[in-house]
Amino acid sequence: MDFLHYQNGHLFANKIAISDLAQQYGTPLYVYSAAHITKQFLEYSQVLVNRKHLVCYAVKANSNLAILNLLAKLGAGFDIVSLGELERVLKAGAEPNKIVFSGVAKSVIEIERALRAGIKCFNVESEAELYRINDVAKQMGKIAAISLRINPDVDAKTHPYISTGLRENKFGISYQLALSVYRQAVSLTNIKVVGIDCHIGSQLTELSPFLDAADRVLALVAKLKAENIHLEHIDFGGGLGVCYADEQPPSASLLMTELNKKLLPYPDIELLCEPGRSIVANAGLLICKVEYTKHQDDNHFAIIDAGMNDLIRPALYQAWMRVLPEKEPQNTDESYNYNVVGPICESSDVLAYQRQLSVQQDDLLVVCSAGAYGFSMASNYNSQPRPAEVMLVADNQHQVIRQRESIEDLWRGETFL
Ligand code: LLP
Repeated sequence: MDFLHYQNGHLFANKIAISDLAQQYGTPLYVYSAAHITKQFLEYSQVLVNRKHLVCYAVKANSNLAILNLLAKLGAGFDIVSLGELERVLKAGAEPNKIVFSGVAKSVIEIERALRAGIKCFNVESEAELYRINDVAKQMGKIAAISLRINPDVDAKTHPYISTGLRENKFGISYQLALSVYRQAVSLTNIKVVGIDCHIGSQLTELSPFLDAADRVLALVAKLKAENIHLEHIDFGGGLGVCYADEQPPSASLLMTELNKKLLPYPDIELLCEPGRSIVANAGLLICKVEYTKHQDDNHFAIIDAGMNDLIRPALYQAWMRVLPEKEPQNTDESYNYNVVGPICESSDVLAYQRQLSVQQDDLLVVCSAGAYGFSMASNYNSQPRPAEVMLVADNQHQVIRQRESIEDLWRGETFL
């Protein structure tokens, strides 16, 4: 996280003291860097100068309107998976013809709205979905552009919960069936086949699974061509990992360079990708306050005011996320091997295990790399209001991009019998 550093013994984001942010906005608090998001996004396209391309940000990673608007202004396309995400990106100023719609369970209402908006294409994940899209388009007197999401049966070598490209995963159309589904698709009256798509998983730290998947997809593209089915675009999905601890994932520019090389035989085909995490993860942090420390038997707990409701990644995927104290550690400090735990009444509510820290009540801690799948997966479990979100817009300028939820927000929409 290149915008975080210690200065005079305290942690700063750019030129802004973390303690000032905590004081002004309260904790827990999500903070993002607009500059980092911009840099990460632009890295995807900068090597694709001679290739028609569209970088479709995967909205699920962080769907705050300000982030979507920032990316829309940079020319981003968007990968969405629900009506809610569609309405969000439209509200944020996305161009409809830059939106691709993924997801295994698209409802009739979602399909209708997407057709009315005029999205670029549906990433179709089953035969049944293909027929539903054709039916809905027919009723509306429209032609639906589609791409088939192929499951290339490649091991992404990542956590099983975020691996999506294996035969046993629910995603996409099996590699063996793909050709026959394409043949059906071209025969349907209200379908226009425009692309092919794959996404094999998330937090991939090696290049090879991407390239293996690309080879499998391109073998299909060649077969389709032989049958006179010509595609306008190939979508390689998202999934590029980031550094949480000491991972060394390839850079976005290397990934794009290598994928682009694979497309040499197809100079006119548009390259699409759907990155989420790699654009926002290391742009974000979660500032928390230590409510108590507790030392009993051999166990040391730093009990903070953020929990699995605010950031579920450690509890759900055993994810390791860096935790930095706001006060710069000194060698002389008394420290303990802490489990950093939240307020939620679950034993799994642990944000970090076994961290050597020197902290006291009311100190601040910062969870790093929290920009992706942090707030977007937050919930109100235990009736905890969700945190505020703040964007660092310049070296010493910041702005709220989502108010902290109020207590009243917790029961909005509920009624007594
Ligand atoms: N495209 C599709 C179809 C996807 O399903 C996903 C993520 C992406 C793109 C973006 O992948 P990314 O570039 O962010 O890796 N909550 C988990 C990650 C779930 C990813 C789901 N799909 C986590 O916190 O690790």
